[in-house]
Amino acid sequence: MNGVWRNPLLHVAHNTGIKHNLVVERRLNQQNSFYGIMSEIKILGFAGSLRKGSYNKMLLQEAVRLAPQNAQIETFDLAGIPLYNQDEENDPPQRVKEFKAKIRASDALLIVTPEYNYSIPGVLKNAIDWASRPYGDNAFDGKPVAIMSASTGMIGGARAQYHLRQICVFLNMYPVNTPEVFVSFAPQKFDENGRLTDENTKRFITQLLQNLVRWTLILKFGRQRVLEVHA
Ligand code: FNR
Repeated sequence: MNGVWRNPLLHVAHNTGIKHNLVVERRLNQQNSFYGIMSEIKILGFAGSLRKGSYNKMLLQEAVRLAPQNAQIETFDLAGIPLYNQDEENDPPQRVKEFKAKIRASDALLIVTPEYNYSIPGVLKNAIDWASRPYGDNAFDGKPVAIMSASTGMIGGARAQYHLRQICVFLNMYPVNTPEVFVSFAPQKFDENGRLTDENTKRFITQLLQNLVRWTLILKFGRQRVLEVHA
């Protein structure tokens, strides 16, 4: 992960000169195997726009390219998810089943959303509603999530992000707080091949993804430690 996550035990061993202490070495091995297991963080990314030339889809693809070494971003297209109907939530349409299964199989999520009328688009809200139901079967429960937005306007989708963060509260998701990636004036920031040209934005995306991986590890590792202590 290129210096994002440092093994704390390695750090202690180097700083105290006890590299050859057998106990420390054994713990290092145990912990390294733990980090080894955790080293491939699976992130599921989806964009709240269906249109072909979507800036948010481009932004998602840029994130795929900028993913940290030990993380992999798989994308899911929300196309084909029908309008939510509570009559069907116990046996939802196939595309919804696929979406829920992909969410559950991931360690973390990346949501990239346009802003529509100062909020998130219906396409995204609709997909979230499906995957959060039926009551007691919320696929988002406990998932770490990073959020980005791109808009043609000067606010970069900030208002939509804050609405999405509010939704995350009920979904019991754990959003990464910083950096906040708002891509304003999107048409000026992507080239004709859909590649992000703004280097500052690329740096922010890279940092956000590194923070998401780190946050995911903290939540998983921290949870395991707490369960060990309070078993
Ligand atoms: C918009 N747009 C928009 N932009 C913004 O910054 N704040 C807003 O509230 C809105 N509202 C809004 C409503 C609707 C219905 C549409 C279609 C558009 C503009 C929006 O940022 C622009 O269309 C983006 O290009 C949409 O994202 P994608 O499809 O390019 O990913």
